[in-house]
Amino acid sequence: MKVFKTIDRLRKLRRDTARNDLSIGLVPTMGYLHDGHIELVRRSVRDCDVTVASIFVNPTQFGPGEDFESYPRDLKRDIKLLKEARCDAVFCPEAEELYPAGFCTTVTVEGLSEQLCGRYRPGHFRGVATVVTKLLMSALPDRAYFGRKDAQQLIIIERMAKDLNMPCRIIGVPTVREADGLAMSSRNSYLTPEERAAAPVLYRALCAAKEMIDSGERDTKRILAAAGKIINSEPMVKLQYLEAVSRENLLPVETLRGKILIAVAAFLGKTRLIDNIMLDLEES
Ligand code: PAF
Repeated sequence: MKVFKTIDRLRKLRRDTARNDLSIGLVPTMGYLHDGHIELVRRSVRDCDVTVASIFVNPTQFGPGEDFESYPRDLKRDIKLLKEARCDAVFCPEAEELYPAGFCTTVTVEGLSEQLCGRYRPGHFRGVATVVTKLLMSALPDRAYFGRKDAQQLIIIERMAKDLNMPCRIIGVPTVREADGLAMSSRNSYLTPEERAAAPVLYRALCAAKEMIDSGERDTKRILAAAGKIINSEPMVKLQYLEAVSRENLLPVETLRGKILIAVAAFLGKTRLIDNIMLDLEES
């Protein structure tokens, strides 16, 4: 497996694969890999001739007071895991490679970026959209893989790729969960044993919402009240938001129909976790 730090080397890989008529899959990550990331790699290895993962803790998507400095990092272990997953190359640039002095261009996906997490993390999705654009422009992949756990991020990236005519298919991959339902996340490593034991309540609440919907309930207020009650019954968890929105525009819906996202964000101590379920319901 090749490991490189420069955009020039990434471009060379793209030229070599294009010359041999091979397809490239890109798996953008911030490292500290878990099985959710490895599932993205597996999907790319299955679909594409060459798989490149990127590892870059992107400073522009962290707000003041967020965990940029403390974000977990373990490049050696990540490289080992990627090798085992049959990834072909890893791009792990220094910050100066992606943001050289004088850098002043950003990508903003209007509207979608201001909903849900965007309300609490101003500027976060501008940082994500900008770095993902740079990674896509650098690697020029045929496909790029993102986890559905970050549903808003995925929806924003899909919109951006469409709006900017990016010649890349954006693939959303289902969330990988621990045995007790907790969505895998690098940030789970921050949890104390007590917080870790409480964390699956988020998915339990989402499952309870899904059960109500499966039995025919469509009233958002009733569904969110029931799910919110489950979360609030866990004293270690401080709910930030629990919303049911349309996947088209991320705006709240009163009645569930069509492509729906039920998304939750909550704090366990200082750790902020997110989770969601996506539903495809009859339009009528
Ligand atoms: O999902 C992530 O890990 C990051 O937001 C991404 C897409 C790699 C951009 O930094």
